[in-house]
Amino acid sequence: MSQSVTLTELGPADFRPAIGQFVAVYAAATNPPERMLAGRGSILERHAAHPGFRALAAVAPGDGKDGSTAEIAGFTYGFHGAYGQWWHDMVAGALAAIPASRGAMVATDWLDDSFEVAELHVLPAYQGAGIGRSLLLRLLSGRPERTALLSTRDAESKARRLYRGVGFTDLLTGFRFSGGEPPYAVMGATLPLHPEDQRPSDQRPDTAASSPPPSPPSSPRPSI
Ligand SMILES: CC(C)(COP(=O)(O)OP(=O)(O)OC[C@H]1O[C@@H](n2cnc3c(N)ncnc32)[C@H](O)[C@@H]1OP(=O)(O)O)[C@@H](O)C(=O)NCCC(=O)NCCS
Repeated sequence: MSQSVTLTELGPADFRPAIGQFVAVYAAATNPPERMLAGRGSILERHAAHPGFRALAAVAPGDGKDGSTAEIAGFTYGFHGAYGQWWHDMVAGALAAIPASRGAMVATDWLDDSFEVAELHVLPAYQGAGIGRSLLLRLLSGRPERTALLSTRDAESKARRLYRGVGFTDLLTGFRFSGGEPPYAVMGATLPLHPEDQRPSDQRPDTAASSPPPSPPSSPRPSI
């Protein structure tokens, strides 16, 4: 679909009334089993209360034909990661369990000043047109955190390719958040993302899942 979209930033107060529409985009983009849809709205509601919450909606204008109106073509959001948050604590435990010198210090460096990218979805009809990449880059631009973290299915998916293409690297692979779920990859990037990291992954040196995760800079990044 070639229709242009507008990216709109939403604070918690704007985000909450549109949660039903975001869940609909999530459902259309990922086609999740029913059990993963139930309660999704309340997860988004809870996340909107986290510190440093930022959300973006990609809004496509309707063309007026056949009564078509503006619609949300995609969305993303995230927040400042903190101990006591379920995802953060699960990842902290798994990173800290990496043996020897790759253990606690690496976990701390990645997690202590991090932004968690919680969701990024684009409606199928709008995929492949650069919307997902634009949403992600805008979400992470100007963030005060030192790192950004996310999890995605541990597969060679569009999402995985997008994340690698803007500089994310694998921190954990084959990670299961719970017994019944498929394996996930936890990925991290240092902020700000650098233009040279935004080349497609096949033009960058390979980052093998089995190699140690690179440490983020030890000094805090300058504030913007
Ligand atoms: C993953 C997703 C958000 C990407 O959004 P998008 O708008 O389709 O992606 P973009 O057009 O911005 O493309 C960005 C990158 O994604 C990858 N990508 C996009 N379409 C692709 C395709 N058909 N095949 C392989 N990679 C593809 C590429 O790396 C692309 O960069 P490139 O064009 O430089 O190669 C979107 O496809 C989606 O919602 N998928 C289903 C839900 C999902 O997986 N969400 C992420 C959960 S972690």
